[in-house]
Amino acid sequence: MSYYPEVAANIKPLTVNDLTAMKKRGEKISCLTAYDAAFSAIIDNVGIDIMLVGDSLGMVIQGHKTTIPVTITDMVYHTRCVSAARKRAFVIADMPFLSYTTPVSAAKNAAQLMQRGGAQMVKLEGARLDCVSFLVDQGIPVCGHLGLLPQSINFVGEYKIHGKTESDAEKIIEDARKLEQAGAQLLVLECVPAQLAGQISAQLAIPVIGIGAGVNCDGQVLVLYDMLDIGTAKRPRFSKSFMQTADSIQSAIATYHQAVKQGQFPASEHSF
Ligand code: KIV
Repeated sequence: MSYYPEVAANIKPLTVNDLTAMKKRGEKISCLTAYDAAFSAIIDNVGIDIMLVGDSLGMVIQGHKTTIPVTITDMVYHTRCVSAARKRAFVIADMPFLSYTTPVSAAKNAAQLMQRGGAQMVKLEGARLDCVSFLVDQGIPVCGHLGLLPQSINFVGEYKIHGKTESDAEKIIEDARKLEQAGAQLLVLECVPAQLAGQISAQLAIPVIGIGAGVNCDGQVLVLYDMLDIGTAKRPRFSKSFMQTADSIQSAIATYHQAVKQGQFPASEHSF
């Protein structure tokens, strides 16, 4: 498999510092979920900056209705598959449901994702500041995740937009600031109004990656199976099928990558 020319010039693995530098110079960061070595190689070859081994694999790979059944063993297995084929992209692995109930359990599970899975960073949902600062103290890079929190689906009842009221928006802004202060080096904002996400991205020094959060985030992530239109569930409104106009999986992913880099995705119809 040959690298696209612009990627061939720079095959060195990306670090978190490279992602921060992209934010500083105003370069959008492209991110896609990945769950196995075959897709990892394609995504990496196209030049996508981050591969997220999301616990969305519980829904798109395992066929569950939620991410709740995903275990740390599942996450280690899929992270190892993705890492095996990765040459350049930064690899983040999700901490699954109940794998960070205490700072110590978070560190033990994060260690598995890094030592056995090969992840460079772990992502956990919510403002779990105790866990974030403990992980960071152990030298484990952390990505926060605010807005819609899929692991809390049984608590909130439905997959919907968050941060629409003034008090909800203020809470998300405050939690984002606290996560940065606790040492998180990246933040995912899921399903929040574009204006709110833009404001948070402008206020934080760390890169903010949006999904259903408008074009003014520092980068974008989509669930791979949604953007390739191979999911079994209905594609969410904020996602887009890049397969409809593509003649191959590679070109669909390359089109997504370019659209993110050029600030053409998400368009207003994918935003709230
Ligand atoms: O699990 C996942 O794929 C995620 C993205 C939706 C951000 O967390």
